[in-house]
Amino acid sequence: MPIRLTFLSVLLVALPIAVYSGGIPRVPLGHDEIRYLNSIPKDNPLTQTKIALGKLLFFDKRLSRDGSIACGSCHQPHRAFTDGHVLPTGIDGQTPKRNAPTLINRAYGTAYFYDGRAASLEEQALIPIQSPSEMGNTLEHVVSTLSVISGYRAHFKAAFGDSTITPDHIAKALAAFERTLISGESPYDLFEYGGPKGAMSKSAIRGLRLFRTKARCTLCHMGFNYTDEDFHNIGTSWDRADLSTYEKTGNLKDIKGIDPGRYAQTKKPEHFGAMKTPTLREVARTAPYMHNGSIKTLQEIIEFYDKGGTPNPFLDELITPLNLTDAEKQDLIAFLKALNGINWLHIEPPFKFPK
Ligand code: HEC
Ligand code: HEC
Repeated sequence: MPIRLTFLSVLLVALPIAVYSGGIPRVPLGHDEIRYLNSIPKDNPLTQTKIALGKLLFFDKRLSRDGSIACGSCHQPHRAFTDGHVLPTGIDGQTPKRNAPTLINRAYGTAYFYDGRAASLEEQALIPIQSPSEMGNTLEHVVSTLSVISGYRAHFKAAFGDSTITPDHIAKALAAFERTLISGESPYDLFEYGGPKGAMSKSAIRGLRLFRTKARCTLCHMGFNYTDEDFHNIGTSWDRADLSTYEKTGNLKDIKGIDPGRYAQTKKPEHFGAMKTPTLREVARTAPYMHNGSIKTLQEIIEFYDKGGTPNPFLDELITPLNLTDAEKQDLIAFLKALNGINWLHIEPPFKFPK
């Protein structure tokens, strides 16, 4: 018994206050504690010191080659960790080819990026640092920049028991911070899990029913996090595609003007133009939408699905015209807005950085 208790208290001390308050495990309404704990990799346990370090790194522009861009430049807290632009701006005014996605609830992810090319938050974290159009740095250079900052050495020592700065520890700290970007406790969660009457408007309640039935959204945006973590071609921007050569040759290389998405990883033709299903939590705060930022508003999103996406040779068979009425469209939008949570809104960039 004493051994049990010691083990438990060590476990509780190691858990972050942001997610667990008063020593009692607590994730926001709408999340499952066990699922959350299981999503944390065994070789990167969450601790307060590591999360604090990850937060500093996330907002510190010194992680980029010339000190001009931080993760938080493209993933801004007040926009639910997006940047409000069609495409973001990286180092030297360069433009990455995709829209900056939300980092909310990515703790539960199984594949990262629209094409799923990173398998964990740890693996993902080092990619933007080295991407020529994002932070333009090398791992050697980021390590040497941080290693001469004594304040950072102290933070790494506190987080990892070792003041030597390594790419592995940078990635682990960034990933730990990202795992605390959790959204729940939305009007939808209050409605679903016995909150006060009227937590969600009547229109949003009708929207929720439509979402699960006639509008077919749950076929992909499923479960508490509103994503199947899978890849689908819904036809985004296929009206801009040039298929003229492809229609003659049948060669996928000849499709012009379209991001191949998941196909670039798997080379499976059915994955051509397929993108990872994004979570819809906080979606009212993350416009513009889609992998290329091509859809500006939630109204346009609903119109897009209502007409059955954009036809193309690889369109997912789950996407079909919906024949929604105007009132139904407004109800769906009201429901999407009810997925904005409140529990993460306190997260802000740090006031000062290690010297
Ligand atoms: C210049 C803008 C920019 C910067 C700087 C940037 N990102 Fe991103 N981030 C993006 C874009 C664009 C994507 C989507 C790219 C894709 O899907 O190919 C993305 C995707 C991600 C994803 C995947 C999300 C998902 O749902 O799959 C994570 C996690 C992430 N970034 C974290 C970070 C971290 C950590 C940093 C800093 C080390 C960072 N980003 C720096 C623009 C940026
Ligand atoms: C076949 C699977 C599928 C179905 C069904 C589906 N979606 Fe999506 N949804 C996706 C994928 C995949 C994306 C990303 C596409 C892209 O980036 O080009 C997406 C993107 C979105 C976005 C943009 C999110 C963002 O952060 O950019 C919204 C909003 C959205 N869907 C809402 C809905 C609604 C509402 C419905 C029902 C009317 C619906 N979806 C039905 C798969 C689906």
